[in-house]
Parts: sequence; C-alpha cells; structure tokens
Amino acid sequence: MQGGKYPYPIQLANIKKNQWRLEKFINLGYDKKELQKKEGELWQEIKKIADSSSRPPNTCPAFPDSKFIGYGWEWAVYELPNKREIVKVPANIFKEVNEPEYLENTRYAYEACTKHLRSFVVDTTFERIKNNNRKINILKQRKIIGKEITSINTQKVNPQLRKNLSIFAKGILALLEEHDWIPDLHLKSQEGSWDVWNLMIENDKPILFDFTAYYDVWRLYPQRTREEKKIKGKYWRDFLNEINK
Ligand SMILES: Nc1ncnc2c1ncn2[C@@H]1O[C@H](COP(=O)(O)OP(=O)(O)OP(=O)(O)O)[C@@H](O)[C@H]1O
Ligand SMILES: [Mg+2]
Repeated sequence: MQGGKYPYPIQLANIKKNQWRLEKFINLGYDKKELQKKEGELWQEIKKIADSSSRPPNTCPAFPDSKFIGYGWEWAVYELPNKREIVKVPANIFKEVNEPEYLENTRYAYEACTKHLRSFVVDTTFERIKNNNRKINILKQRKIIGKEITSINTQKVNPQLRKNLSIFAKGILALLEEHDWIPDLHLKSQEGSWDVWNLMIENDKPILFDFTAYYDVWRLYPQRTREEKKIKGKYWRDFLNEINK
C-alpha cells in the first residue's frame, strides 16, 4: 500500500496475501533487481528514522503509574500498576502504527497465529482508546514471566520444552503454508544452536508475544516472499527434525 500522507511506502502490518509494500514499483513493471534496489533504499530510509528516534518515556502518559519495560519499532511496552498486565502503545517512531488499520491488521495477524499456535500465543486484546482528545492504538497482554531467549541448543533442551518446541515448529510450518508468512522470529542455524528472536520461554513453553514486524520482509514484493519461504521453510523443517531426534 502506498501511503499518501507518508513520504515512503507504508504497509500497515497487513499480512494478507498480495499486499505488497513495494506495490507502486511492482505496478511500474520493475524487475527483481530493481525491486531489490528499492528494498535497499526503503530499508535505509526507515532505519535512519528508527535510529534517530528517542527512547519512549518511563511512564506512558495514557496510563498513570505504568512502568516502561521495552520497545521495538512498533510498540512501547509498559507494565501496568497491577504488575500482571502490560500495555503496548505506538512507539512513536513510525506514525502509521497509530492508524486504526494498523491495529486491525495486527489483530488479523494475531488471529492467524493463534489458529496454528494456540496457547503458545499470549492472549491479547486490541483497543483504540481516547486520551487527551487523541485516539491511540493499544494492545493489552498479561505480563509473561519468562525469559526472552536468543538461542536454542536442541541438544540441551529438557523433554517438556522439546515437546513444546516441536508442536510450536509444526504450527509455524502450518502458518507458513496457509499465509506465506510467519512472525518475525528470525530462526537461523548457528554453529550447533539456533538463533531466535521475539520468543519467550515460560514454564518450558515458548510464548509468542509479537505478531507483526514494521519492516515485514514477507510483504515487500512477490519474489522476496518466494525466497523467504524457501529459506525460512527449510530452517523450520530442519529445526523440527533436530528437535524430534
Ligand atoms: N507480554 C509481554 N510480557 C513481558 N514482556 C513483554 C511482553 N510483550 C513485550 N514484552 C517486552 O517488550 C519488548 C518489545 O515488545 P514487542 O516485541 O511486542 O515490540 P515491537 O515493537 O513489536 O518489536 P519489533 O520491532 O521487534 O516488531 C519485547 O522484546 C519484550 O522484552
Ligand atoms: Mg513487532
């Protein structure tokens, strides 16, 4: 989707098939090489914006006594005073994250994930609230009491986690088959272990808490999706084989 009021192509977290961030250039008949070049330019442009943005405040103005716990390119995350819940508000890096459509698309991605990953996805509610005469997109989740991991050594996981990771990987492969898309987990084999992002382990269970990526490589242009599907599909199949050994 092309974003009239935005200076660069936006995509609004839409994971539906045939929604391309570089649609304008696809329609102009650009070939793969030219699209790759546009992809590189877009990446540079948005990376510059992200790098020059400031860290969100320690308390979210819309939620008094909330406590900042982390952020990404989409959301700033705050623990609520009850300490059991967190709220995600736009991180204010890319303005379109506050569009109503962005919220609806994130909900769609969440539902696509829960269909295949079931209880491995943290329960999430989606609202557009009014604060100081301004409407804001918010996501609410329980606070996951777990560790965000960056790697998995398939030789060292305990039997319970092994079983859960196997079911999780099968769910990811089913999601990939249905939507030509999976969430931004960055699974990659790395010298005997597996790199992974955006995943927490809680009571020997992987928990997905982030459904969309602001820069979604799956929805740039068709050739990119095909390549990504080949590469990521292989990684997840290899991971599943290893975890099942
Ligand atoms: N339910 C949760 N419980 C505890 N911590 C959380 C939860 N959700 C998010 N966090 C923390 O907040 C951080 C940012 O959240 P999240 O990944 O959802 O933001 P994002 O903007 O979607 O990130 P990205 O740029 O990777 O898409 C996470 O890395 C994690 O540390
Ligand atoms: Mg995200």
